Amino acid sequence: MTVTFLPDFLWGAATASYQIEGGAREDGRGESIWDTFCRAPGAVLNGDNGDVACNHYHRWRDDVRLMADLGLNAYRFSIAWPRILPEGVGRVNPAGLDFYDRLVDALWASGIRPFVTLYHWDLPQTLQDRGGWPERESVAWFAEYAEVVSRRLGDRVRDWITHNEPWVAAMLGYGIGLHAPGLRDPAAALRAAHHLLLSHGEAVPILRRNSPGSSVGITLNLTPIHPASESEADRAAARRKDGFVNRWFLDALYRAAYPADMIEYYHALWSDLPDFPADDLKRIAVPTDFLGVNNYTRHVVRHDLRGVEVQTEYVRVEGAEYTDTNWEVCPAGLSELLMRLHRDYAPPAIYITENGAAFPDAPDANGEVNDARRVAYLRGHLTEAHRAVTAGVPLCGYFVWSLMDNFEWALGYSKRFGIVFVDYPTQRRIVKASGRWYAGVIGAKGIEDEQRREMQSPG
Ligand code: FCB
Repeated sequence: MTVTFLPDFLWGAATASYQIEGGAREDGRGESIWDTFCRAPGAVLNGDNGDVACNHYHRWRDDVRLMADLGLNAYRFSIAWPRILPEGVGRVNPAGLDFYDRLVDALWASGIRPFVTLYHWDLPQTLQDRGGWPERESVAWFAEYAEVVSRRLGDRVRDWITHNEPWVAAMLGYGIGLHAPGLRDPAAALRAAHHLLLSHGEAVPILRRNSPGSSVGITLNLTPIHPASESEADRAAARRKDGFVNRWFLDALYRAAYPADMIEYYHALWSDLPDFPADDLKRIAVPTDFLGVNNYTRHVVRHDLRGVEVQTEYVRVEGAEYTDTNWEVCPAGLSELLMRLHRDYAPPAIYITENGAAFPDAPDANGEVNDARRVAYLRGHLTEAHRAVTAGVPLCGYFVWSLMDNFEWALGYSKRFGIVFVDYPTQRRIVKASGRWYAGVIGAKGIEDEQRREMQSPG
């Protein structure tokens, strides 16, 4: 079967500032919470940090060329807030703005449409020192940052993403301490999530004003949740987990209300649950142009009173394939998710802003990286994405995570998600088999029948 996408479908790859840039102390960049977190003993695997990462801060021209060679027509990257406002608010650092200004121009010059994420987790440390996202003032800090960036880039950037995965930023950063700033306070995490969402609501009109005619959206981590058994307890656990990860954010953004079952559940857990004023919810639910979906897997969960996340525990699926981050490979989960979003929330457009897999790739004797499992993963997920399109889901583009191997947060450099291999000591980039495969898909605007392709180009 040949799977063909519409001619204006966007074929992209995604990265994030702290994961690839390096140049951590250059041209006036301030410190972020990730710089601090990486210094905390035991916080990041092998004591890794983003000081150098993929050295994209210096190699960006070559990296744009690489994207052009792959045939990408879109690129999703994030802006490092501490490069723009080293103290978080107030003084603007022109060199920081210049860097992204040049990048945006170079992308357009190569026919690549920049998708700019304002916040992919690198909060200026100075703002964390003032309390970070659990503080309501954070909404004003983010609005100021959005103003500064969009004033400079708003004439050329046509697609804006306010936040990347507020659930992860709030819950892993403030709730369980796995990510920066490493705090363990679930009620503070809920306040952080609320302020992340509210700051999105405040930023949307700012972006629209400074970047007329552009599209504005937010990216969520969304995952289908399945119960481990048909028991009432496991089904309730799956609903709870869905409320925790998916509905809490989707209902706020698309229905101006947090899900009642989750409010009730949280109230029973904590007496200090914050108030969520109805007016805040109205501001959060400001209409947007698209929803960004990050999806990697599905979760199968069972009820467990000691479970860290809303009294649920993950269950490993017998016989299923798992990636190097222990995520089940489940392409059908992607179409299920997209159809559910379309049915329950009906965003005007959807982009898959991240999808991909970590595998322990290494160059072979010929210097080639034959990541057949990633090719299979991508083929499976793109086929399911197409199934959703056929069912009427307004899916407008796909961004593979990631353009290149990079700093995978608390897992440091131990996990490789790239379609391009990075040899960190030399910073050499090697396009993996998956990168070549993806370039072929982009060229053909879809997945060609494998047999036919093999007949055309043997070997
Ligand atoms: C997502 C993040 C991204 C990357 C992938 C693997 O949660 O947005 O930065 O780490 O997971």
